[in-house]
Amino acid sequence: MSGTNDRAAGFCTRLGLKVPILLAPMAGASPPTLSIAVAGAGGLGACGALLMEPGQIAAWAAEVRRGTSGPFQINLWIPEPTPRRDAEQESRVRAFLEGWGPAVPPRAGDTVLPDFAGQCDAILGVGPAVVSSIMGVYPAEFVGKMKAKGVYWFANVTTVAEARAAAAAGADVIVAQGSEAGGHRGCFNAADAERQQVGLFSLLPAVVDAVRVPVVATGGIADARGVAAALILGASAVQIGTGFLRCPEAQIHPAWADALARTAPEDTVVSRVFSGRAGRSVATNYVRAAMAEDSPGSAPYPVQRGLTAAMRAAGHKAGDVHRMQAWAGQSAALARAEPAAEVVRRLWDGATALLS
Ligand SMILES: Cc1cc2nc3c(=O)[nH]c(=O)nc-3n(C[C@H](O)[C@H](O)[C@H](O)COP(=O)(O)O)c2cc1C
Repeated sequence: MSGTNDRAAGFCTRLGLKVPILLAPMAGASPPTLSIAVAGAGGLGACGALLMEPGQIAAWAAEVRRGTSGPFQINLWIPEPTPRRDAEQESRVRAFLEGWGPAVPPRAGDTVLPDFAGQCDAILGVGPAVVSSIMGVYPAEFVGKMKAKGVYWFANVTTVAEARAAAAAGADVIVAQGSEAGGHRGCFNAADAERQQVGLFSLLPAVVDAVRVPVVATGGIADARGVAAALILGASAVQIGTGFLRCPEAQIHPAWADALARTAPEDTVVSRVFSGRAGRSVATNYVRAAMAEDSPGSAPYPVQRGLTAAMRAAGHKAGDVHRMQAWAGQSAALARAEPAAEVVRRLWDGATALLS
């Protein structure tokens, strides 16, 4: 196992980590408390900055730096073209959603996301150890600016072809996202998400063989066995999302955290019903109904995000997980309600024992 251990150790040295465990960037579920705990335990902290304005990104980084000197990544989604809207379908979706929450105003779908260029500038201003991307690759100009600042670029991919494209665009590290992963699928072409679902056991060694840069494994890793298996399959480190969501520092709604504990691998599903982009969540009553054949389907991203906002807020307020956006990977039931530093220690000690 020394090759496996050496690879992970080399990665840790390069990134200034004590353990090859990365918190996954999770938009809406990346409070500073969680990164402070993970980075403080020797792993890499993370911010899913998709929905954050430049000032919020700077404030997030300042708070994390007050709590730890450990490194972190800041993550953005690569924007996609403006969606083609269909007023009739949107009105059917709005009518459907009214069966699940408050009335949905006609303009609810006019979702405006923070300006990508402004977010990129804010991230460069923060100067994190790592900037990561999902859903595509950064523009060459921004890649040049990251390199000039000595910031590593970690590119999330879901296929071998995407891994090659990201490496060719200058990514320093490839994050291979298996189809087990919770949250949105990272496909470069949104339309391919359901068709291109590759499990981590196949994706990881294929990506490791296809690129020369280090590969991080993500998707369904939530205990020591998963960490050890990923390292054996060629990963230099692992990235964990759902496995940290039940930690108190994650501060997610207790109804969502409790649901994770009851969620078997087959109880999650990939759908577009929350945002218009494919993502894996608990198969709640809303998700099942919105995916059923007689439902009106989903509006495109990010229109659907706006249309479902009122229902999600009502579900949150009522503590009703069936109307929440309960993202979950297929290994959700392995997540434990314990401090994040404890999770890092338990997973790494266990993996080290399995690999020795
Ligand atoms: C609640 C949640 C939000 C997420 N948001 C993002 C995001 O904003 N950017 C991103 O690159 N990945 C995001 N992901 C995907 C994770 O980075 C990672 O691929 C996934 O959590 C790995 O699978 P696991 O949840 O089984 O550990 C999110 C995942 C979850 C669970």
